[in-house]
Amino acid sequence: MSVACVILAAGMGTRMNSDLPKVLHQVAGAPMVVHSIKAATAIEAERIVVVTGHGAAQVTKAVQDWNPDTATVEQTEQLGTAHAVLQARDALAGFSGDVIVLYGDTPFIRPETLETMRAARQSHAVVVLGFEAADPDRYGRLKMAGDTLDSIVEFKDATDAEKAITFCNSGVLCADATTLFSLLDEVGNDNASGEFYLTDIVAIANERGLSATAVTCPEAETMGVNDRAQLAAAERIFQANARAEAMENGVTLTAPETVFFAHDTVIGRDTIIEPNVIFGPDVTIESGTRIRAFSHLEGCHVSRGATVGPFARLRPGAELAEDVHVGNFCEIKNATIDEGAKVNHLSYIGDASVGARTNIGAGTITCNYDGVFKHRTTIGREAFIGSNTMLVAPVTVGDRALTGSGSVITQDIPADALSVARAKQVNKPGLGKRLMDSLRARKSAKKEQ
Ligand code: UD1
Ligand code: CA
Repeated sequence: MSVACVILAAGMGTRMNSDLPKVLHQVAGAPMVVHSIKAATAIEAERIVVVTGHGAAQVTKAVQDWNPDTATVEQTEQLGTAHAVLQARDALAGFSGDVIVLYGDTPFIRPETLETMRAARQSHAVVVLGFEAADPDRYGRLKMAGDTLDSIVEFKDATDAEKAITFCNSGVLCADATTLFSLLDEVGNDNASGEFYLTDIVAIANERGLSATAVTCPEAETMGVNDRAQLAAAERIFQANARAEAMENGVTLTAPETVFFAHDTVIGRDTIIEPNVIFGPDVTIESGTRIRAFSHLEGCHVSRGATVGPFARLRPGAELAEDVHVGNFCEIKNATIDEGAKVNHLSYIGDASVGARTNIGAGTITCNYDGVFKHRTTIGREAFIGSNTMLVAPVTVGDRALTGSGSVITQDIPADALSVARAKQVNKPGLGKRLMDSLRARKSAKKEQ
């Protein structure tokens, strides 16, 4: 049985107090709407439709950047959640199977939970995801009769008795596509908000003799983000889970509460992560590596046995082979560092490749940018780049070549050569002392005046 997901993301998000549409605010380095798309992808949704509204152009761009196969439809007026789902009808034309409705501001719904809902769909026409609310506040209330969900009552329309119910609507819902749209066609807006409520389809289904039920998940999973404090809380929850998961997977975190992961960080077993390490998106770390304190990594790959940091920065396209060492105050960007090579102190290696077992001396810089274009530096294997070498790209250094410290290398160096490119040293015997003596004499003459 196929499944499709409709992600509601048209809301304004007034309480974020932001120019950025709410669903584009990030949790763990990804816009919240991307978290919902990932859940849909994880259950192999055949189609994913994001309903945009406020900031439609920006949301559409972000969604398509993440996954070009995701459809977006614009809800020009926010007339309610039922109206929002109806906007996806054309995008789902020809689709048959279950449709799951998700929200773009509810990033923690687990794929396993969606699978549980789909399983419940075998025996019910409509399945709603509910949770026991510690503080039911303004959530819609689920009116159950045994296993059957009779109806959902919105807070504004609820009687005092209904408000006493603590089993609440998460907003996530599952129904067969044909049934869903046929139920939605019957939803009106005669209620306290004057909105078309998606939640009304439950009562309508029951009137038609179709059954509805609810599946329960922990409240934390349905957490929605409406303001910056909740955004920070969502980040906190994400990080707590990610740290626990990393440790369960055999990763040592010396000070877990100081390590920050991205939504897609992958870390191999027996890696040691020291305090204050930050992972941006798209990082994979193989087993048995050590990421030392205060390092910042994004868009990079670190192979088995490598050491990074302290105070290292790996930027997008940094590719470290096995047993590579990248030390303190080094920045690597769009560069491949082959097995056993070392970039240990104060270097910038960008748009470059460094061969196996090459040693990059302290302070070496690949001068990759001429102000307009970026150029590549290619360094062979077992080369020795002297401290403070400037490699002015495009330039190639052959295998086993050496450069003298302080060289400014502007031309290719053949394999096995030694290249020195700096002013020649001149020693003038006795001149140092004579110079100092005369300066001191001038100073004491001044004092006596
Ligand atoms: C909704 C549910 C409520 C549930 C709560 C959970 C309805 C009628 N009520 O209430 O039962 O407890 O979520 O958080 O469904 N949206 C659109 N277009 C619209 C309206 C909303 O895209 O026209 C989107 C919003 O951006 C948001 C989501 O749908 O992501 C929910 O809308 P919101 O107005 O926050 O619904 P609630 O009143 O909180
Ligand atoms: Ca809401």
